[in-house]
Amino acid sequence: MKALVFDKNGLQNLKLTDYQDPETKPNEVLIRVKMAGVNPIDYYTVERLKVKPIPHIPGVEFVGEVVKVGGYVKNIDVGDRVTIYGKIFDGTCDMCMSGYETVCRNGGRIGVDVNGGMAEYIAVEGKYVFKLPKEYSWELGSSLTVTALTAYHALKEAELRPSQTLVVFGASGNTGQFLVQLGKKFGAKVIAVSRKNWLKELGVDLVVDYSEVEEKVKEFTNGKMADVVVNSLGEQFWDKSFSVVGVRGKLVTFGTLLGANAKIDLSQLYSKHISILGVNRGNRKDFVELLDLCKDCKVKTWKVFKLEEGREALEGLFSKERDGRIFISI
Ligand SMILES: NC(=O)c1ccc[n+]([C@@H]2O[C@H](COP(=O)([O-])OP(=O)(O)OC[C@H]3O[C@@H](n4cnc5c(N)ncnc54)[C@H](OP(=O)(O)O)[C@@H]3O)[C@@H](O)[C@H]2O)c1
Ligand SMILES: [Zn+2]
Repeated sequence: MKALVFDKNGLQNLKLTDYQDPETKPNEVLIRVKMAGVNPIDYYTVERLKVKPIPHIPGVEFVGEVVKVGGYVKNIDVGDRVTIYGKIFDGTCDMCMSGYETVCRNGGRIGVDVNGGMAEYIAVEGKYVFKLPKEYSWELGSSLTVTALTAYHALKEAELRPSQTLVVFGASGNTGQFLVQLGKKFGAKVIAVSRKNWLKELGVDLVVDYSEVEEKVKEFTNGKMADVVVNSLGEQFWDKSFSVVGVRGKLVTFGTLLGANAKIDLSQLYSKHISILGVNRGNRKDFVELLDLCKDCKVKTWKVFKLEEGREALEGLFSKERDGRIFISI
């Protein structure tokens, strides 16, 4: 089969290559991949993460059609359109037992710790494979495994409630697009912090620029400030994001796109009863709920690349012209 493969870290080493066809074990499903969503994690995977196996096929987020089903797998048939839950879990540790597969003590990530979906075919254990409801296009479907799941889990963990105010930094980004739409589904008022003006099309109540976020959030909330703030950009906007959290509010993070070192004024933290929450991807239960909840979600696409353009697709993540999601059609 054709696959994007690298044999040592570095984007320059990512090449379209002939790779041995995956075998399908009795507990596995063979998927003909149709589309992969491109995420920062794919870029980090190629550039610097320690991966297995080497040579490695990246791709944490993908959808496709089932072409073969191992004998032990029930509920999945040849021809099904499928998506995957992408966190590897053992099902036996205390975290898995309490429904937190996303932080399984013996866990990993499909696309990092085993080969991913930037290939024509992938064999995946049946427990990770879920039927894609008919409402999902390939693009929306390949925005579930990482992008929408992380957004949904973050809002659940923050216990966002109807009529509360949610502020999302980097709202036009992959996770941002889903945070704002899911925030509306939770019944919240949503403020998008973004350099783009099309966020209104995703149903947000207010779009503000990074430079004016404090005054605009203050005005919008009559001085109460936000109940939940999501900052996956990290350091660069940490102070700004902290400054718009209101009394008993929560600041949620799952990423450090623009730096990982943040300072915090502890006196502000305790005097306002603020909580800081770190979250990571999401659980299987979240994934099943999301499949049902996000059927009418929208995805703003910037570009769809071909498999042989994998390098350009990954580089596009950091392009100044980028205006929405990047996909690879396979
Ligand atoms: N832990 C997890 O499970 C998990 C899951 C998903 C993502 N993440 C992490 O979360 C972070 C965000 O992921 P994402 O996929 O949403 O990223 P993304 O699609 O690249 O979005 C980032 C957004 O940040 C805004 N931004 C502001 N200043 C920027 C700058 N100087 N350079 C680039 N972007 C800038 C842009 O939005 P505007 O144009 O709207 O300003 C951009 O669209 C990444 O670090 C990612 O690795 C972690
Ligand atoms: Zn576990």
